[in-house]
Amino acid sequence: MNMNEHWIEIGPVEDIPRQGSRVVKTAAGNIALFRTVEGEVFALQDKCPHKGGPLSQGIVSGKRVACPLHDWKISLDTGIAVAPDEGCAARFPVKVSDGLVSLCLAPDEGCPNH
Ligand code: FES
Repeated sequence: MNMNEHWIEIGPVEDIPRQGSRVVKTAAGNIALFRTVEGEVFALQDKCPHKGGPLSQGIVSGKRVACPLHDWKISLDTGIAVAPDEGCAARFPVKVSDGLVSLCLAPDEGCPNH
């Protein structure tokens, strides 16, 4: 299998608001792309590990997003809920090159929640 087939170009990094997100609809469900204050970009399944809340509607602070439903904090770089909460949202690899964001549609391994 050619892993390059899983990468899609999303568009300019500026299209993702800082401390906000943008949702990409895929056959496997919605993926939320987040941008931190520092301009780093991360991608998680747009589904909170608690009760499926839309993480894309949450507020980004540092490298975490707070779920809008019950305020669980999810680490953007791992997809793992911050203790004492448990669980994870599937994480997808992201690349930014020349200001353009590319997303890999194959989630990282390690999170069963996808
Ligand atoms: S659904 Fe996200 S914290 Fe409850």
